[in-house]
Amino acid sequence: DQIPVICVDGPTASGKGTLAALTAHRLGYHYLDSGVLYRLSAFVALRAGLSLDDGEAVAQIARSLPVRFKGDRIFLATEEAEEDVSEAIRTEIAGMAASRVSAHPQVRNALLDLQRSFRQLPGLVADGRDMGTVVFPDAALKIYLTASALHRAERRHKQLISKGNTTTIAAIQQALEARDQRDMSRKAAPLKPAEDAKLLDNSDLTIEESLDQVIDWWQGTR
Ligand code: C5P
Repeated sequence: DQIPVICVDGPTASGKGTLAALTAHRLGYHYLDSGVLYRLSAFVALRAGLSLDDGEAVAQIARSLPVRFKGDRIFLATEEAEEDVSEAIRTEIAGMAASRVSAHPQVRNALLDLQRSFRQLPGLVADGRDMGTVVFPDAALKIYLTASALHRAERRHKQLISKGNTTTIAAIQQALEARDQRDMSRKAAPLKPAEDAKLLDNSDLTIEESLDQVIDWWQGTR
């Protein structure tokens, strides 16, 4: 398979999504936000009244997830209509629910083919936790993006405040550290850098500087 893939993995709120989407835009590549698939699996399971601890039941949902990506909006196709769930799946509660279902190996397996189906010409930029370690092990460029927990919490805080939420940086930092801890300590595809990943700490970088670094690395692989 020669279709190029760039992987961007890293902890919660490290800026993976923004960096991966910008990289895809710059290169004219497709973009996959794999976290959405875990968020949706949990969302649909909760709606169906299932327990998030029931790995087999959630995997069944994940196997035929009725998801449609349209630009940066995310839709669930129900019998009658398509429902825009973009906001509903972005809450920290939905993130924690995603983290819970993502620890089940059956759920991870159920989403493999779907994730790989995004690998289409002219290329793909994929972000998540295991893009470089499990889903696209042959990717030409793997980036592990980090930032200090405080930087990540401050950025997330700014986003939330601008949307009218009230919360504190400390509360956010605690929530994201708890989710990272879960993601790093699970047995199935734990969050960790691939052996051949390039580490990028963006604590003191602007988004443009991070993007330039990625494009530099990418050109170095060609
Ligand atoms: O990236 P995002 O915050 O949307 O991911 C939500 C959760 O989904 C993560 O905390 C993680 O548990 C899970 N996830 C995963 N593997 C991926 C992407 C997300 O386990 N490739």
